[in-house]
Amino acid sequence: MTSILVTGGAGFIGSNFVHHVVTHTDFHVTVLDALTYAGNKASIESVLGERVEFVYGNICDAELVNELVANADIVVHFAAESHNDNSLNDPRPFVDTNIMGTFTLIEAARRHNTRFHHISTDEVYGDLELDDTERFTERTPYNPSSPYSSTKAGSDLLVRAWIRSFGLQATISNCSNNYGPFQHIEKFIPRQITNILSGIRPKLYGSGQNVRDWIHADDHSAAVLRIIERGVIGETYLIGADGEKSNLDVVKTILVAMGEPEDAFDLVSDRPGHDLRYAIDSSKLRAELGWKPAYNSFDDGIAATIEWYRVNRDWWEGHKNAVEEFYRKQGQ
Ligand SMILES: NC(=O)c1ccc[n+]([C@@H]2O[C@H](COP(=O)([O-])OP(=O)(O)OC[C@H]3O[C@@H](n4cnc5c(N)ncnc54)[C@H](O)[C@@H]3O)[C@@H](O)[C@H]2O)c1
Repeated sequence: MTSILVTGGAGFIGSNFVHHVVTHTDFHVTVLDALTYAGNKASIESVLGERVEFVYGNICDAELVNELVANADIVVHFAAESHNDNSLNDPRPFVDTNIMGTFTLIEAARRHNTRFHHISTDEVYGDLELDDTERFTERTPYNPSSPYSSTKAGSDLLVRAWIRSFGLQATISNCSNNYGPFQHIEKFIPRQITNILSGIRPKLYGSGQNVRDWIHADDHSAAVLRIIERGVIGETYLIGADGEKSNLDVVKTILVAMGEPEDAFDLVSDRPGHDLRYAIDSSKLRAELGWKPAYNSFDDGIAATIEWYRVNRDWWEGHKNAVEEFYRKQGQ
């Protein structure tokens, strides 16, 4: 049986991936996660058992990582510090986890010649002008803006160098913004949904013109699985679902789907260095590996996500006050 090590499998996208793998393969899954504030074991509790094992630990722990990688056929590396706002307040954990953690993992993978897939973000490419007709491709030069995106860019470059210098059996994917179940409520979409569920008005940064390219986390998971199965070693694949929306449109979509007037939100101060627009051209992944997103409509994906947060109040309600307090202190 194929054995897969999933780092960060108790986080948002990692936990969605674990559920996807359990449903669509017969792989044995080991999750390695340090359960930072962003990790939640409850997100994978329902699948833990014979096929899915949980190991509490840090990806910077070379001894533990070496042992787990030695026993795995494939490593899929999601673990990261992932929140831009936190990276502006305290960049250090981003350097430790995103750079040193990735270094620790690829050293173990090269030692054991283990297949490695590195999960990254489109934010490594910087941003585009709102009226630009271009989208990011695998050939777009790196131009990260924040401590978060620069440490992710650094980790991508380490993986690329390990492929070239040491023959690491690796692939890389850079994905656009994800939404779906199990996302920490500090993030834009679940924050607005849980605001409305808590009787708080949604908050929009700046004027809301910034554009993000949205993809459902389950479509991201399917793309990663496809890359593991059919991807060419050494290659980078961009993952996106042609889901460009302004933040203003996203807030209005959520409000309308939840039966509220579409203007029932507040404008708050913008984030420093806030990237204007991200847009992904995923034609390489679609043409070469035959992947396409299953969610064709953002409205349907958002409706399903709202329903998940409505039904799973226990999963998020305990964190709501602390998250809003954090934003209140920043005037957001
Ligand atoms: N969220 C997005 O829209 C998005 C888009 C593209 C790419 N990505 C990438 O996908 C990956 C997962 O993102 P996410 O949104 O699920 O993040 P997340 O913050 O929800 O989850 C990160 C997980 O990693 C764990 N972790 C953090 N530091 C660790 C360490 N040192 N050792 C072990 N575990 C540690 C956390 O406990 C948590 O479970 C990241 O690499 C991120 O850069 C995210």
